[in-house]
Amino acid sequence: MTEPIIGILGAGKLGTTLARLSVQAGYRTLIANRHAVTELKWVIDTMAPGAVTVSAADLVAQANVIILAIPLSHVAALDAKTFAGKIVLDATNYWKEVDGTVNTISSFTQSSSEVVAAHLSQARVAKAFNHMGYHDLEIEVDRHPEARRAMAFATDDDTIRPTVRTVLTGFGFDPFDLGPLRFGLMLEPGSPLFGEAITTPEFQAKIDTLYDTPFGRKIVAARGERIR
Ligand SMILES: NC(=O)c1ccc[n+]([C@@H]2O[C@H](COP(=O)([O-])OP(=O)(O)OC[C@H]3O[C@@H](n4cnc5c(N)ncnc54)[C@H](OP(=O)(O)O)[C@@H]3O)[C@@H](O)[C@H]2O)c1
Repeated sequence: MTEPIIGILGAGKLGTTLARLSVQAGYRTLIANRHAVTELKWVIDTMAPGAVTVSAADLVAQANVIILAIPLSHVAALDAKTFAGKIVLDATNYWKEVDGTVNTISSFTQSSSEVVAAHLSQARVAKAFNHMGYHDLEIEVDRHPEARRAMAFATDDDTIRPTVRTVLTGFGFDPFDLGPLRFGLMLEPGSPLFGEAITTPEFQAKIDTLYDTPFGRKIVAARGERIR
């Protein structure tokens, strides 16, 4: 694809942090929340200088890589047809307290990103930016330029793998291709991988022992087998 234009939907803790990393990476970076551009612009000019505040509709129209940095439960209200053909990096995480109960996610039957992909059915969805806290995202990039932290991603769309890798690398991470979207479950809250800002060999070691943990045993109990 041509040079990614990054659109960050959501201008909270995660969205503004990713906007700074995106601007640092040299990407044209758009950001939006649900409010008027004039209301958000002064915040973004302070917190992520260089990022361009736009309306959510303009962001979806203009960006070719859209990062979802909104509560998971807000995804269902997005106008799915406007996302057709876009690469979507789903950074949302499932928090029952915020999002309410989604049975297929609670029961480990689906990764939350499969729920997102089902709604944005014409988009090209990858799960990414989920397992690292917003505070770590930036600190770890700055602190360990020579020992990049692993950033896992998962997708069912092989055609977007190169772009996802390029964007994650540009943002300062070592892309870790976990495989299909359903494996994204391994990155979700409760997993030993969740919250980790570690190198790729360390990340791999955690995956290798995942099924020795209560979380891994829950996956096997729910699915009847290991998912990876
Ligand atoms: N915080 C982290 O460290 C972290 C790390 C990884 C993943 N995540 C996930 O990333 C998402 C955001 O987390 P956060 O901590 O950044 O939350 P937050 O600080 O509450 O920010 C959420 C942002 O989403 C905006 N928003 C909500 N619905 C929207 C819509 N339909 N269109 C555009 N903007 C919308 C909100 O703005 P308005 O409501 O004002 O419009 C707000 O700017 C969550 O799913 C979270 O689980 C968070």
